[in-house]
Amino acid sequence: MNDRRQFLKNSLLASAGLALAPLSSATAGSMDGLPQGLIYTQANPGMWGKKVGGHLPRVSVDGDKVGVFTKHGMSEKHFIVRHTIVAHNGKVLGSKTFSPEDEEARSSHTIPAEYRGQKLYATSFCNKHDMWVAEFTA
Ligand SMILES: [Fe+2]
Repeated sequence: MNDRRQFLKNSLLASAGLALAPLSSATAGSMDGLPQGLIYTQANPGMWGKKVGGHLPRVSVDGDKVGVFTKHGMSEKHFIVRHTIVAHNGKVLGSKTFSPEDEEARSSHTIPAEYRGQKLYATSFCNKHDMWVAEFTA
């Protein structure tokens, strides 16, 4: 299996909450222990420097409700596959899987009380432009 296929497989497993260790150590400004080019952030867009606006998940917080929006088109060949909300300890607090038929990549989640006020991560996975992460506090 080539490196890209393995990366995509690992990314999908991480999105599904099956392999959380890499995400739990990811931060917006650095990727402790991970090579660049695995997960993209606003500060580290890597090879996708011109793709930040359409791929970085935009997070809105209203009390215990968190909204995630990726300003990206949705077509059969190119779309946002999934959003997740992941806690600092790797626990997946919410997720939504999209299909190309969805009008937009928008999801909403409720943050459990024990995770309020803590550092959380929103992920957005594009089928062509990989995994993007935004850090936030709810
Ligand atoms: Fe994309």
